[in-house]
Amino acid sequence: MNKVFAVEFWDEKACDVRSTGPHKGAKSSVMANKILAVDHYLESHRNAFEAQLLKLLRIPSVSAQPEHAADTRRAAEFVRDDLIAMGVPAELIEFKSGHPIVYGERLDAPGKPTLLVYGHYDVQPADKVRDGWRTEPFEPVVEHGNVYARGATDDKGQMLTHLKAAEAWLKTAGKLPVNVKFLIEGEEEVGGANLEAFVAANTAKLACDYAVISDTSQFAPGMPAICYGLKGLAYFELRVRGANRDLHSGTYGGAVQNPLNALCSILNSIKGPDGRVRIAGFYDKVKDLEAWERAEFAKLPFSEGEFATELGGDVLAGEQGYTTLERKGGRPTFDIHGLWGGYSGPGPKTVLPCQAGAKFSFRLVPDQDHKEIGRLVRQHIEANCPPGVSWELDEMHGAPAVLVTVKGSPGVDAAVQAITTSFGTPPLFIREGGSIPVVGLIKSHLKVDTLLLGWGQNDDNLHGPNEKFSLADFHRGIRASAHLLAELGKD
Ligand code: BES
Ligand code: MN
Ligand code: MN
Repeated sequence: MNKVFAVEFWDEKACDVRSTGPHKGAKSSVMANKILAVDHYLESHRNAFEAQLLKLLRIPSVSAQPEHAADTRRAAEFVRDDLIAMGVPAELIEFKSGHPIVYGERLDAPGKPTLLVYGHYDVQPADKVRDGWRTEPFEPVVEHGNVYARGATDDKGQMLTHLKAAEAWLKTAGKLPVNVKFLIEGEEEVGGANLEAFVAANTAKLACDYAVISDTSQFAPGMPAICYGLKGLAYFELRVRGANRDLHSGTYGGAVQNPLNALCSILNSIKGPDGRVRIAGFYDKVKDLEAWERAEFAKLPFSEGEFATELGGDVLAGEQGYTTLERKGGRPTFDIHGLWGGYSGPGPKTVLPCQAGAKFSFRLVPDQDHKEIGRLVRQHIEANCPPGVSWELDEMHGAPAVLVTVKGSPGVDAAVQAITTSFGTPPLFIREGGSIPVVGLIKSHLKVDTLLLGWGQNDDNLHGPNEKFSLADFHRGIRASAHLLAELGKD
């Protein structure tokens, strides 16, 4: 049943680990011996790799919080020093503000392709008490084969798999089977502008044949996946203002516009009870799910009932006419993330607040453009804002949605082989609802599709309390990455 997607994309042979093509004699047995040595290195360094992961997880590299700026830099230095220690010349690239990029490269495989590895060393904020963690977010704990810590899966644990894979090659064969460039940033979680400027200004330096990122999830435990679609993002903050001060809601209510009421009415106008966004033009550019894709979604081993139960019961809702998997992976969405104004302390307070605000975002699908969505949102608010208030809209970060070509891509074929070897089963092909802005940059500036090889699980609680990462998946990810290098380096 795990092969449902693979069958659609390429012939079965490519998914079979035993069929490595015609024998190439001595050369291929040299390669086979190198791979054995790499596998042996991985096996004998499991404890060392875990210890390094825990060490990196102890650094609270929260890019959003100025008080963690020095910690964030320490995480960058950790990554740089690890690259240097394994034999990859690496440096920190500094910017006027924000956090450094770690860049390293080993280009001593002439005639072989070049792989760009991207990851991020920054993490989301975490507070034990406020967010309800069982353990300290930056004091990693290993339990039931998982490591619990902020950044475990997003993205320190996943990012480290590619470093350790390279290390295994360098410490055994003395060189990598392909040319590799490492681009590890520290502003992914804040949508920083430095990376875009860096990629745009360094297209020759970053030129590559393939890019790989592990910052997504498997379909389920034991069901590895290659992600071929990510959503885009258009994120906003809206502030609404009314009278020049807070007022008594009896004395003034009904005569003076309440900004909190106005804000709720604006937000309520954005989505209908059918789950569809009501902003004019919002769906104009949406690429509809194709029939074959809907058929593949339907074949995935997924139970809406179990999904709901795991989330606490009757909590599912979404756009009419689409299944849960289609809504999650292939349809645009609207969500409010925070709402403020008036009084929310203990007891009643009959206040008519003078201001209110909200943060909200749209997840986008190809070919929606977040800047254009910004213009449409502005027009929609203009047309739907009740009288008696003024408003201001900030367009915060945005990212394009991406669809990666899988059919006939040699990089994807190599990844399928590598994952099949390491996980013991071929990957499924899935679309995810998250966004990774760099994938769009790699596509537009470097003209390369990214291999999105997720080692995480859906219930890893990324951005939430008790974030975790399976150590078994950590090691399988390392091995898959090491084999990916071998596959890409095959003649
Ligand atoms: N690793 C996530 C993206 C992700 C999440 C991919 C879940 C697939 C499944 C990434 O670090 C992230 O959090 N991205 C942000 C967007 C960014 C612009 C802040 C997101 O998706 O909210
Ligand atoms: Mn991430
Ligand atoms: Mn994240």
